[in-house]
Amino acid sequence: MKRISVALCLFVAACGGEADDEPTPPPVAYKDMTLQQREVFMNDVVLPKMRATFAAFDAKYESTMTCQTCHGNGANDGTYAMPSPQVPPLPTEEEFPEYVKDPENAKWAQFMMDDVWPQMADLLDVPMYDHMTNPTGFSCSNCHTIASIMP
Ligand code: HEC
Ligand code: HEC
Repeated sequence: MKRISVALCLFVAACGGEADDEPTPPPVAYKDMTLQQREVFMNDVVLPKMRATFAAFDAKYESTMTCQTCHGNGANDGTYAMPSPQVPPLPTEEEFPEYVKDPENAKWAQFMMDDVWPQMADLLDVPMYDHMTNPTGFSCSNCHTIASIMP
């Protein structure tokens, strides 16, 4: 019996704890992840973090926040394409001042600006949009489509 276990150990790296000496591979950056790795990362890291962020703004998200909240139908068909047509569209930049005269829109926009946008950029480890210095950076329009709201 003893001999068999020793023989087995020759093939099982975990025996004798030698695997502990293996260096841990560096975590894969979001930009280098496969679609499958991104799914796992979203599930393990993004969803719990963003659920807490949204729930601090409105407690209902504690129970309602899912992949669909951000990905809409893309979470059902497996494409996760962003921006999602099911996230409420935002008005164009020119129309934005008019849009935020509605206090409800203003409250949401403030929350997005202060919490959701910077935290999401941080989670993905991507640089944020800046009108002057980084016009192609991560912005509201990575999650929201933009549509004219003016009649
Ligand atoms: C708070 C919003 C939010 C939630 C919740 C969320 N995601 Fe995402 N997801 C994003 C954003 C933003 C991106 C990156 C979009 C981009 O690159 O412009 C993304 C990207 C992805 C991608 C990569 C898509 C691609 O084309 O490479 C996958 C896969 C994904 N999400 C799966 C999920 C799954 C599964 C869940 C639920 C467990 C989830 N997401 C929850 C915001 C979210
Ligand atoms: C990570 C994805 C993400 C980013 C980035 C993001 N949003 Fe959002 N936003 C959402 C989601 C998801 C909702 C809708 C939640 C729901 O339907 O319950 C939302 C809702 C809103 C609403 C409320 C709309 C309505 O009609 O109820 C406004 C306004 C808004 N966002 C503005 C912004 C602005 C401005 C920015 C950029 C500063 C931004 N968002 C960035 C995901 C995002």
